[in-house]
Order: sequence, then structure tokens, then C-alpha cells
Amino acid sequence: MVAATKSLPRRQFDVVVVGAGGAGMRCSLQLAQAGLSVAVLSKVFPTRSHTVAAQGGVSASLGNMSEDNWYWHMYDTVKGSDWLGDQDAIEFMCREAPHAVYELEHFGMPFDRNADGTIYQRPFGGHTANFGEKPVQRACAAADRTGHAMLHTLYQRNVAARTQFFVEWMALDLLRNEQGDVLGVTALEMETGDIYVLEAKQTVLATGGAGRIWAASTNAFINTGDGLGMAARAGIPLQDMEFWQFHPTGVAGAGVLITEGVRGEGGILLNKDGERFMERYAPTLKDLAPRDFVSRSMDQEIKEGRGCGDGSYVVLKLDHLGAETIQKRLPSIREIAIKFANVDPIKDPIPVVPTIHYQMGGIPTNIYGQVISTIGGESNIVNGLYAIGECAATSVHGANRLGTNSLLDLIVFGRSAGNFIVNQHPERQHAHQPIPQSSIDYSLDRVNKLETRTSGEKTQDVGNAIRMAMQHHCGVFRTIDLLKKGVDAIEGLAPQVENIYFKDKSKVFNTARVEALELTNMIEVARATITSAANRTESRGAHALNDHPERDDENWLRHTLWFSEGSRLEYKPVQMKPLTVESFPPKARTF
Ligand code: FUM
Repeated sequence: MVAATKSLPRRQFDVVVVGAGGAGMRCSLQLAQAGLSVAVLSKVFPTRSHTVAAQGGVSASLGNMSEDNWYWHMYDTVKGSDWLGDQDAIEFMCREAPHAVYELEHFGMPFDRNADGTIYQRPFGGHTANFGEKPVQRACAAADRTGHAMLHTLYQRNVAARTQFFVEWMALDLLRNEQGDVLGVTALEMETGDIYVLEAKQTVLATGGAGRIWAASTNAFINTGDGLGMAARAGIPLQDMEFWQFHPTGVAGAGVLITEGVRGEGGILLNKDGERFMERYAPTLKDLAPRDFVSRSMDQEIKEGRGCGDGSYVVLKLDHLGAETIQKRLPSIREIAIKFANVDPIKDPIPVVPTIHYQMGGIPTNIYGQVISTIGGESNIVNGLYAIGECAATSVHGANRLGTNSLLDLIVFGRSAGNFIVNQHPERQHAHQPIPQSSIDYSLDRVNKLETRTSGEKTQDVGNAIRMAMQHHCGVFRTIDLLKKGVDAIEGLAPQVENIYFKDKSKVFNTARVEALELTNMIEVARATITSAANRTESRGAHALNDHPERDDENWLRHTLWFSEGSRLEYKPVQMKPLTVESFPPKARTF
């Protein structure tokens, strides 16, 4: 049984940042350098956050390899998003990109170099020169370990700036007052099993994605949508959750990511006949078309009987790049292929399948990371709450994200939120506001129910059922009928999540407790995803319906908002007006 509310230990900070991936640490760095007291909570050691798994690069129109500019990058991102991205936010991100990357370079991030000393850039899917004319080299790379290099650089900078890290801590719930202002979080210290109240003048959610609601995923096991669950329980809507990206090249049977950088370096996808099939689907960009396009093409090849081996995968051939290039530019890919697919790509192709990778939707925010709650068409800022990185819908990725725009999103909006908080901080220099007892009690009741239950459903069984339901009902190609069955399946599992229990009630490093708490977040994400998807009767970006194959701008050029209570949906307009330039109007999306 958890301690009574009044005896809960408390800590006070100017800002609590939940999550120590690229977005969280870019934000905390800005805050700590400005002299604010900052607590960063992380379920794992910061350099093990999922950003570490990002491989191929971070996009910025540096023009180191050939001519490039931010406006072309903006066009590609709008088109990549299938026009669901907000064009003001996209302009902001693409304009800021070179600055954000040079800043990392000056922090000491070990990018690969060209002979003239500039940052090496490789091509990536959907990134083009001159509005789609030909692929452009825009992905700034540190071999195939760009996220790893970024995360270590940011961690070291944060240590120097005296950011306070709370390692192996899990945030549980947002604490709000009657006006809905956010005043901090409750959090579990895993080492002791104790629960704390962390009071904050500002709270930043940077909890990453939730790709672990699928059975096959490129995501780390920690990606359970904790920030989304916290927001949903607090009555904040989740935006555009029907849009999930399948990365074309997960190792068949293992799900481990094989970077798009392989195709950037010249790797090609082949079917069982040895045909480079992407030439048929995307005559201009071929294997470097955006991910939704390539994933669908692969799925179609497999479904039409042109899969390799037992027919369930296609292959990624890169031996023609030569051993030297593979060892220099793609060393981790070689290691992954040997360990997880039992092939050495210097000699043999890698078996690959589209695998869930990234959530385009999330907690709605503006470009400063401020969370925006829209109810009945009226939008309001949630005071004291920010969301950045994959858990946020800012929304720069719309219905489909371009590869390498995710690392960019982390650093641009992490920095932007940090700057915004620093600049507005003097107005909030007041003492911490009182936290209503009821807000703390809500969180403790949730935990206490779990702690005291001695029978019910096993966390692992319900978790597996959720993952299998999502895998079966919400794939690369969908139908409304299948999605509706998915809604029934997931809503049927929700009461089981309410009834989970764990036998081992010990307090010290009890992972059963953590997994049970994570499941209460995963169910919110699964409900949001499947319900939003079942209601959108068009195909757009990563949401591809066999029974509604066309995009329908007249009825569906709008963002979905899902509310946990009653699994209710609302919609709001897409921001088509950029900050300073002409809007890119919707057009057919061919590559
Ligand atoms: O393919 C990759 O290296 C993944 C990059 C990304 O998701 O942006």
C-alpha cells in the first residue's frame, strides 16, 4: 500500500521535464543554462533513451553536397505529410534546421565529414531538390549512429550545465488545479517503489512514442506512450493518432531497424524475381520515395506473390556498395544484419518487411511546445504544460513523416520550448501554486488499486492481446470494417486493463509494477489510434484504406482530436498558412 497523501515526499523545481531523449535534453539544456532549476525524469539512463536508436541522419538544408535551401525542404515536408502538416510549424522547423544542426556541431557532435571538413550529408526518402525534381543529400549523418551521437552530445552538455537527472523514475500523472493549470507530476522512484510529488512551475512532456502497442516494432520497450496516457487521463485530447508510420525496412521476423540510409547510400529493394520493383511504383524517386509509399509497395509485392523465401518479405541489396563503404558508412547495419538476420550484407541481401516505427500524432501543441486543448471548436493553452518530440503533434509530420525530420523535430522544438519558458519565466517567478489534494489523490488511488489487487488479469496477457489486436487490425493497408472490429477488440480489452494485478508486491526495482503502470498508458494510445482510424474514411499518408483509396480534401483536410472520456472525436482545421511564404496548396502526391 502506498503512503498516505500527506506523507508523500515532495520536491520543487522551476521545470520538470519528463523524458531524457533528444527533445527532453535539448529543452533541459536551454533551461539549465539560463539558471532555472530543472529536473529531468527518465525511466532509463538518459543515453539509453530511444533517440539512441535513430540511425540515418538529421535533416537540414546545409547544401554541403549540392545546392539546397529550406524552402525546398519545406515543400518536401508538406508533400510528405500529405498536406495534413501545419504549414506555419513546418516553415519554422525547416528554417531553423541549419542553425539547430550547426549548434550541435559546435556542441561537439561527431558528424561524418567531407574532404573539405563540412558535415557529410546523404539522400533520404522524400527529400528532393527543386520541388521534387531529383533526390537531394540533406541528411546530416554520423555514420549510421546519428541518434547515438546526438544523445551523448546532449547528455554531456546537460551534465556541464548542472541539469538534475532523476534516473529510473517514471512519471505517473499530471497534477492540475481547478482552472486546469498543470502544477507538476506524481512520479515513481523505481529503486525504492516510493511515490513523490514533483512540483513545477512548468512541466514538459518529452516521453517519446508508443510503438510498443504493436507486436512487431522498431521501438524500444520503454516506448509505451506514458506522456500520452497522462495527457489523456487529464482530459487533454490526442491529435491525429490514426497516422502511424511503418518503416519499410525492419529485419523480417525481428523488427530491428535497418536505416533508410542504406537506400540513401545506394541500396535497393528487390522482389523474388530480382526486380527493383520501386521503379514501377515511384519512377522518379524509386527506393527513395517517402516511407508510406515504399511500405505500401512492399506490402503489395508480398501480397501479390512476389515476396522472397517463404513469400513473406522482400530483400534489401547493398553488396554492390562495396565492403569499404558499408564498413565506413553503415557499420551498425552490418552488425545488425549479421546478428538478427544471419546475413553479412557485404555478400548477401537483408530480408526486410515494413515495421511500425513512428507516431505522427500526439499531444497538440504550438511551435513553442505549449499544449493546446481544443474543445467544441474553442482552443485554449493549457497553462504550465508543454509537449515536445514524438509525443507531441506540433504538427510538422501530418499524415506521414519524412525520414530524418524526427531528429530535427526534437532539437528544433526542444530548443524552442526551452527558449519560450526561459523568456516567459519572470512572469511566473511566484511561489509554486498550491496543488489540490484531489489531484494527488486521483493518482494515488490509481496506484493503490493496482497495489492492493490480489487477483485479476495478468499484465503480460492483456498487453499481448492489445499488441496482437493492433497488429491484426491496424496495418499498412486497412479497411473500415477491419478497423471497426479493432475498436471492438481494444475497447473490449480496456476493462481488463482496469483489472490487472501483479503478484510480487516488493518495492525495490519491481519491474512488474512498472509494466502494469505502462499498460495503463498503452491502452489509452491504442484506443485513440484505432478509434481515430476507424472514423477517417479516406486514404491519406500512412492511413491507407482499401475501401476508400483516395484522399478526400473536401471532407478530411482536418486534424482528428480524440478524448479518452467516452472515446469521443472532434476535428479541427489544418493550418494551411505558413509564417512568411505562400501556402503550398494540396495536389496529387506522386514520386
Ligand atoms: O531510417 C532511419 O535511419 C530512421 C530515421 C528516422 O526515422 O528518421
